[in-house]
Amino acid sequence: MDALLEMKGITKRFGGLTAVDQVDLIVKKGEILGLIGPNGAGKTTFFNILTGIYRPDQGNIQFNGTDITGFKPYQIANQGIFRTFQNIRLLKDYSVLDNIKLGLFRQTKAGAWSSIFGLRRSREEEKKVAEESWALLERLGLTDLANEAAGNLSYGNQRRVEIARALVSHPEMILLDEPAAGMNSEEVESLSALVRQIRQQGTTVILIEHNVGMVVELCDRLVVLDHGVKIADGDPNQVVANPAVIEAYIGGQEVTEVVGD
Ligand SMILES: Nc1ncnc2c1ncn2[C@@H]1O[C@H](COP(=O)(O)OP(=O)(O)OP(=O)(O)O)[C@@H](O)[C@H]1O
Ligand SMILES: [Mg+2]
Repeated sequence: MDALLEMKGITKRFGGLTAVDQVDLIVKKGEILGLIGPNGAGKTTFFNILTGIYRPDQGNIQFNGTDITGFKPYQIANQGIFRTFQNIRLLKDYSVLDNIKLGLFRQTKAGAWSSIFGLRRSREEEKKVAEESWALLERLGLTDLANEAAGNLSYGNQRRVEIARALVSHPEMILLDEPAAGMNSEEVESLSALVRQIRQQGTTVILIEHNVGMVVELCDRLVVLDHGVKIADGDPNQVVANPAVIEAYIGGQEVTEVVGD
């Protein structure tokens, strides 16, 4: 098996709360893996561990044959792992194009400002950055919005710009945290097509999503977290039919509907 990512016994505690509890995960190169689970299950925390925002209290992370446990975020980026955030993090007053260019530089120590204002870069570098960013805009169908302030875009398009910003570095692996949140069904379909295209270009994808219909349709495999524990891992259709998974979702939901007479 061609394991790109191998995580073993990953545990993260916040005080008395175990947000991620002894999770093992293997991701194969070229896979689209869906990570699902009820609110508070530990999904985003899992991404924060994988991207070096948190160091796991226990466990080990191997990526591409390198032990990356405890790596800082920029070191993780240097390994080719990029992400989007559950709460969109764009510079709202800057253009779509500038936001994407930023993706090429924020993993370096040179910093964000020099990238926006073109400091410390040669003309050739500047040209290359502009070309790469523009090519991505074309690929994502965002060229008409290139000079628009990111904050003026629809929710769905802002999420696409976030994905573009992660893609501009040609990631080995991309982590998408609820990319379909706030999208209508048409936008969700075009997002799924984009994710398939990303995989086709050789990037491995992990996707956190509450839209179960979308993940079953799109993902090669689903992993389910509940209270930080991995409760299922396998074929999407089988996973969503698994009684423990159904219970995890229903158990967390308040019953608001009253059957009256
Ligand atoms: N920095 C933190 N400090 C303390 N508790 C935290 C912190 N980050 C997350 N938690 C807690 O860890 C648990 C898991 O949170 P996490 O955000 O990972 O869940 P999630 O599965 O992404 O949920 P959602 O679907 O709502 O985004 C929650 O109980 C949350 O309150
Ligand atoms: Mg989350």
